[in-house]
Amino acid sequence: MRVAVLSGPNLNLLGMREPELYGRATLDQIEAAVRAAAASAGAEVEWFQSNHEGALIDAVQGLAGRADGALINAAALSHTSLALRDAVLAVRVPFVEVHLSNIFAREPERRRSLLADLALGVVAGFGARSYLLGFEALVAALRDAG
Ligand code: DQA
Repeated sequence: MRVAVLSGPNLNLLGMREPELYGRATLDQIEAAVRAAAASAGAEVEWFQSNHEGALIDAVQGLAGRADGALINAAALSHTSLALRDAVLAVRVPFVEVHLSNIFAREPERRRSLLADLALGVVAGFGARSYLLGFEALVAALRDAG
């Protein structure tokens, strides 16, 4: 099983970026934890982060035929990018949306995600652990789907 993990703008700054909201784990540490979980689950991980909307759209388009599923934290683009939504709609790869913070308890403009209704599910509010929980849920859902 091959899983892609896509992270959007400013997530490269995790660890020093608003730690009261996002915690102290760096994206490298989160990647290491997800890779360890993947190794136990017998899954392969493709890891990608970009601060650029177009690069993320290219990455989503590239999922077709390359990944069985994806974990997506599109960061602020979750709330704004119709183009990213369109890419996800076009590719139709099953995915779990993750957020470190509980976006539903934040400013009104963050409470809506343009990807959420397309996702298998959403994990938000557990800090770095959201990635691990989302990964576990995605692998289980892909296994269930056979
Ligand atoms: C985030 C939540 C977004 O609203 C924000 O723009 C981010 C991170 C999260 O993981 O909590 O950059 O996606």
